[in-house]
Amino acid sequence: MWRFQGGSRSDSAPSTAFSHGPDLSQSSEDLTELTNRVSGVLADSDVEWERIGKSEPYWGVATKERYKMKNITPTSRQEFFASGEQYVNEIFGVISSNIDGGFSPSLGIDFGCGVGRIVIPLSKRCGRVIGVDVSPSMIVEAKRNCVLFNVTNVDFVNELAKIEQKVDFINTYTVLQHIRKDIGMDIIDEFIEKLNPSGIACIQFPYFSRRSMMKRILKPIVDRSGLARKMYNAIIMKDAKAPYMMSTDYDITEILRLLSEKNINKVLVLTDKYDKYGAEDAHTYRTYSARLFVQK
Ligand SMILES: C[S@@+](CC[C@H](N)C(=O)[O-])C[C@H]1O[C@@H](n2cnc3c(N)ncnc32)[C@H](O)[C@@H]1O
Repeated sequence: MWRFQGGSRSDSAPSTAFSHGPDLSQSSEDLTELTNRVSGVLADSDVEWERIGKSEPYWGVATKERYKMKNITPTSRQEFFASGEQYVNEIFGVISSNIDGGFSPSLGIDFGCGVGRIVIPLSKRCGRVIGVDVSPSMIVEAKRNCVLFNVTNVDFVNELAKIEQKVDFINTYTVLQHIRKDIGMDIIDEFIEKLNPSGIACIQFPYFSRRSMMKRILKPIVDRSGLARKMYNAIIMKDAKAPYMMSTDYDITEILRLLSEKNINKVLVLTDKYDKYGAEDAHTYRTYSARLFVQK
């Protein structure tokens, strides 16, 4: 388990590595950490993800209106899966040009696999793939899609800890941001433990989001309180019962330090100004995302 210097993670003051203009995220992140400490409340994002998996699995993966169940068409479905194919081609291109020209993993993991958008193309690159997702409904849909795409070398589990073997490749895309940061840091730690020597992990996370003043003030409260979430959803989504999708930025320096502590000293960092395979509103929030390619 990853620990901050000088005590447990929850005892440590978070830091924001970058500053673009007035940085209110620092104080809102501080407030979130403080609320975690005082209340000891466990993350309920897992519960919210099952609600999303049950009601809007495709929109949950990439929050575009055309992926809502009422709007989805054969063309938008095709576009959805093509984006997974494009993503996998891109990351394997980066790996073969910069890290390992002959990279051919026997066993890979897609952590937070959703409906299988990335698992399906990954199954052509790896001998076997394990899709991990906390939402049973997402896994049901992913299994259905594997059958539709004639993919037979994929297994699914609902948590990383259930995988006993070491693996050659781990991918995670638009997942960590939806998990409380202290838990996410433990997951990254576990990724490194699970990799075989020379294995590669591709870890994506947002490291800075420019949010409106109102969202910065409300976010720590809404992230922690069920009642506040209902009120927020009633205003933003026009539906108090809509599932809430938490979004958290990670501290890239903290992640690099974790990797150094685990004796990983060669990391390739790619940055995107927004999440190009995911949310429609990423432009609005001006999310700055990083993808780390880590070789053990
Ligand atoms: C935005 S979707 C991305 C899906 C997939 N990575 C893709 O890009 O196609 C996030 C997924 O992460 C899953 N997830 C959230 N928290 C998780 C956790 N703690 N463990 C495993 N999966 C999780 C959600 O259920 C959801 O399917």
